[in-house]
Amino acid sequence: MTALPPTNDDSAIWDIWLAQFRLPIVNTAIEVGTFKALSDEPLTTQELSAKLGVDARALAMHLAALCPMGFVEKRLGKWRATHLARTWLHPEATGFWGAFLSQIDRNEHLRGRLMESLRTGKRPEQGTDQRPAGWENGTMPQEVAANIAAFMQAHSQAPALGAARMPVFGELSHLMDIGCGSGVYGIEIAKANPGLKVTLMDLKEVAFEASKYVEAANLGSRVSTTAVNMFEQEWPRGADGHFFSNVFHDWTEETNLTLARKSFAALPSGGRIFLNEILMDDDYTGPYQAAAFSLLMLIGTLGKQYSLAELRDVLEAAGFVDVEAQRTGGGYYSLVSARKP
Ligand SMILES: C[S@@+](CC[C@H](N)C(=O)[O-])C[C@H]1O[C@@H](n2cnc3c(N)ncnc32)[C@H](O)[C@@H]1O
Repeated sequence: MTALPPTNDDSAIWDIWLAQFRLPIVNTAIEVGTFKALSDEPLTTQELSAKLGVDARALAMHLAALCPMGFVEKRLGKWRATHLARTWLHPEATGFWGAFLSQIDRNEHLRGRLMESLRTGKRPEQGTDQRPAGWENGTMPQEVAANIAAFMQAHSQAPALGAARMPVFGELSHLMDIGCGSGVYGIEIAKANPGLKVTLMDLKEVAFEASKYVEAANLGSRVSTTAVNMFEQEWPRGADGHFFSNVFHDWTEETNLTLARKSFAALPSGGRIFLNEILMDDDYTGPYQAAAFSLLMLIGTLGKQYSLAELRDVLEAAGFVDVEAQRTGGGYYSLVSARKP
């Protein structure tokens, strides 16, 4: 028996690591009083955040994870605790599980970060998972860049294979993969589209790591790397497609608007922008994987997982039209696309 090559679907692995959020999310909700408040009356996210004294944006992410777990439901914009939650998670219920669940939760680090970000709405200042700090500074030691590339390569192999199958890339001549990490997306899209030229763009140190993956894939004749700080420098011209995977989820709507505007300015008329992301449902009630991933973004970055409606607002504000999205078959990912008129 030997090792097998990756496929486009590793969702079983994602389910394992995203499962770590389930218990801390429930314990955090018990501690701030979510189930009691939503058993008393139906409330909007804003009303609930005011009642609990927590941040509304972070609360929306928590509720979106509790909903697919079956503990809250949303009807006509108002949240309610479900029968399940009122039976087992209400602090005054005879069947209350809280004393057990809080003591059995071994992940104090995660729970502490979820609680702090729920109260403040911000990423906790201190902690061990400071991975993005390197790229937020715009520069990093080469060793940190190597770790980021290896981390993202493992995380992105299956979704990259899924994205690469999307026929739309066959309509392009030159794709720029912006914030490319290890370059796995650009590399797989190039492999699937032999006529396509690909430029992998990232900060200097990460672009250097990506060049090693290009070399290993033997694609040097069609895939190149370029070192560009996407916020501070001019973007290279000439590509008729810009591809961002897991980039918009690192940043606020305001920063994403800056990126979308820079993309719009650099693309020719008819050029396409692509955002490869795990999307929240339109009504922000799940699915669980997107909501848990969003909480990882809340505690580790400045962003979150967005719904298509939220991304459409940003893309249209930058001037793009024809915004749409499709699941790619690459795990839980969807490809959002839009066009410069
Ligand atoms: C979450 S990773 C995504 C990597 C890859 N697209 C993927 O999905 O596997 C975000 C990437 O954005 C890059 N990045 C962050 N800030 C950047 C900047 N100012 N200019 C260029 N790239 C940047 C990071 O170095 C990192 O590779």
